[in-house]
This record gives sequence, C-alpha cells and structure tokens, in this order.
Amino acid sequence: MLLCLLLFAGLVSTAFRSETGVGNNAGWVSMPLDTTKTDKETGLVTDPNLYMVKAQCTSCHSSKLIIANRFTRDGWKQKIRWMQANHNLWDLGETEKQVLDYLEKHYAPTVTAARRKPLNDIKWYKLEE
Ligand code: HEC
Repeated sequence: MLLCLLLFAGLVSTAFRSETGVGNNAGWVSMPLDTTKTDKETGLVTDPNLYMVKAQCTSCHSSKLIIANRFTRDGWKQKIRWMQANHNLWDLGETEKQVLDYLEKHYAPTVTAARRKPLNDIKWYKLEE
C-alpha cells in the first residue's frame, strides 16, 4: 500500500510539474523584464514621472548611479538628503514626491526569484485505508 502511495505521489508531482511549467524557469522568471520599457537616453524605466527624474537627477551624474541602486522610499529620501547635505543638490520641493514615487516604484529592493503561481483547480483525492 505504501508503495502505491509513493507511485501515486510521483505521478501527481510529475503531472503538476508539466502543467505549471515549473521545469521551465527561464520562461516565466524573465517575464517582468521583457515587459519593462526603458528610456533610450537614460536607460531608466519609462513612466509618467520619468521626465521629472530626468530633470532633477541626471544633470550632475549619469542615470547609471540610479539604475545601479535599489532602496526603499525612505532609503531614496536619505540619499537625496545626503546629496543635499554634501553635494549641493537643491531642494526638490513639490517635485520630491514625484521623484520618490518613481524611485520607489521602479528601483526598490526586490526579491528576484519569482514565486510559482498559486495552484488552482486542485483535485483532492481520498487516501484509501
Ligand atoms: C547637484 C548635483 C546632483 C544632483 C542634481 C543629483 N545628484 Fe546624486 N549624486 C551627486 C554626487 C556628487 C554624488 C556622488 C557621486 C560619486 O560618488 O561619484 C551622487 C551620488 C548619487 C547616488 C549614489 C549614492 C551612493 O551611495 O553611492 C545615487 C543613487 C544618486 N546620486 C541618486 C540621485 C537621485 C535619485 C537624484 C535626483 C533626486 C540625484 N542623485 C540628483 C550629485 C547630484
């Protein structure tokens, strides 16, 4: 009976694997990258707020400094304060919110390993005595 169970479990997991494409990591892990558009000039992610980031953040240094970093909203705010204290960055005033919205949305720390999709249509089965 135990053997039966093991065989069955094996079958289920094989079926599951082919159904959800877990074996084919490359396909869905890279998906978000394919759908992300970047600005030709700066390499920054395209967004309605990008123009403001370009105006405020790319005159002193390359956008590469932004692209190479990942911070939380607070972390970005601290960077801005740090540049204001040490590198003559001006007060961003009203536009700081737009800049932070943008940075938080596109350059936040992310977990790169995508999770598998939630299971659906699970067919439960009764274990026989
Ligand atoms: C007034 C000039 C100026 C402007 C405008 C400016 N920065 Fe900077 N930033 C600097 C300087 C100077 C450095 C230090 C560069 C270095 O270390 O080579 C720097 C460094 C950085 C770094 C790297 C920090 C680190 O820890 O290495 C990031 C990220 C950054 N800036 C983001 C931004 C963002 C986002 C904006 C727009 C809000 C911005 N910068 C606008 C002057 C500026």
